Amino acid sequence: MEFEKAVLNRHSTRDFSDKPVNVKDLKEIINLAKMAPSWANDQIWRVVIATGKTLDEIKQHHRQALMNGEPGRMEFPPLHRGAMGQQGRKNVSIWSSDLQRFLGSEGYAMAEDSMNLFNAQAVAYLLMPSQPSLWSAYDLGAFGQTLMLAATDHGIDSIPAAEFVQYPQALHQILGVGNDYQFGVGIGLGYKKSDALINKFRSQRMDSDEFLTIKK
Ligand SMILES: Cc1cc2nc3c(=O)[nH]c(=O)nc-3n(C[C@H](O)[C@H](O)[C@H](O)COP(=O)(O)O)c2cc1C
Repeated sequence: MEFEKAVLNRHSTRDFSDKPVNVKDLKEIINLAKMAPSWANDQIWRVVIATGKTLDEIKQHHRQALMNGEPGRMEFPPLHRGAMGQQGRKNVSIWSSDLQRFLGSEGYAMAEDSMNLFNAQAVAYLLMPSQPSLWSAYDLGAFGQTLMLAATDHGIDSIPAAEFVQYPQALHQILGVGNDYQFGVGIGLGYKKSDALINKFRSQRMDSDEFLTIKK
């Protein structure tokens, strides 16, 4: 796939079909993701991909925890709207109202999809050392975006979501990850359900002039 096409075709899929992603594809995608740049080539990332029964157990725990009203305890400090600054707050509010308008009476589906971890068929959990610097978050982000573009190139849909890492204590236990690593984000992978309305939603972007300055 042409690079530009891969960039433009990637978008967040929030309702995956039951078709599994094969391990060969997962390995190829990770082999491309690891070509991301990192601070002095430190390659701080670690990746655990959950599929099959392991992912079923995670999904079951997630659903139960939400139904019990357990508060999420992400290992990355949560970002509150108030701390975002004007530009971020404005974009989040445009995004939420666009989404509400688009879903209309099917708005409930979004919460259900999140509760079911979007029915992702594989989740790549991106981990970084528990004592990172901000640069480590930069490295992990570069890895994640390269992973998603590689997935698109393989015809595989994706979503990066904080939802996947709401309950890290259970993830440490189920996935056998020690406390020397923390869960940054999860990237859900699979094949989109083509008839799901939510998968037809596209997020807008600002005009580049609104955030770009080129000084001569
Ligand atoms: C760090 C991060 C966390 C995210 N968490 C969630 C989430 O928990 N639930 C969700 O539905 N989308 C989540 N998203 C997806 C964003 O809403 C999405 O990337 C954004 O609206 C742009 O849309 P696009 O990915 O379709 O281009 C997350 C994205 C990022 C980068």
